[in-house]
Amino acid sequence: MSHKIAVLVSGRGSNLQSIIDATRDGRLDATIAIVISNREDAAALNRAKDAGIETACVPPSRLPDRDSCDRAMVDLLRSRDVGLVCLAGYMQPVRRPMLEAFPDRILNIHPSLLPAFPGLHAQQQALEHGVKVAGATVHVVTAKIDAGPILAQACVPVLPGDTVDTLSARILVEEHRIYPETIARVLLKRTSA
Ligand code: GRF
Repeated sequence: MSHKIAVLVSGRGSNLQSIIDATRDGRLDATIAIVISNREDAAALNRAKDAGIETACVPPSRLPDRDSCDRAMVDLLRSRDVGLVCLAGYMQPVRRPMLEAFPDRILNIHPSLLPAFPGLHAQQQALEHGVKVAGATVHVVTAKIDAGPILAQACVPVLPGDTVDTLSARILVEEHRIYPETIARVLLKRTSA
């Protein structure tokens, strides 16, 4: 049975692409029913369109408040019968309407070994602290940012001379591997539950 999932994005969309690729080559038994962005200029929207996936944009500036924004997303997701929501570079806090509509069914990928370095500029924070190992984490989204239960992690070394760009690129390779893998595992668990 192919599950219906949604991906929420704000920017470049390389993680979205890794999920699209995994649905296409059989690693992930899921259909991306819709890709939603909070930004009209997100390059990720073009990746979705190129793949023939429905897109929608819910810019907070067009709505009275942030909760209305999340309510509009819930309506879209429910009408497409989405069972799992995957944040992929979605740079906006998830509010109560979404958390209540999809309890334990919203995932996120973060470019650090949580609980270290939550929030913005995780790779820069890692370099500033001089850590020798960095990485990526897939976790369940809760009301506290980047603090929900951890589902998967992957490590990369921090090398002498690393910049934010070189470290981010090394972490991104692991993000693209563990995110589709973890989504597949979560969906499989749901099927067998
Ligand atoms: C990734 O590093 C992801 O972990 C973080 O934002 C970045 C998004 O990149 N949440 P992309 O839009 O998936 O290319």
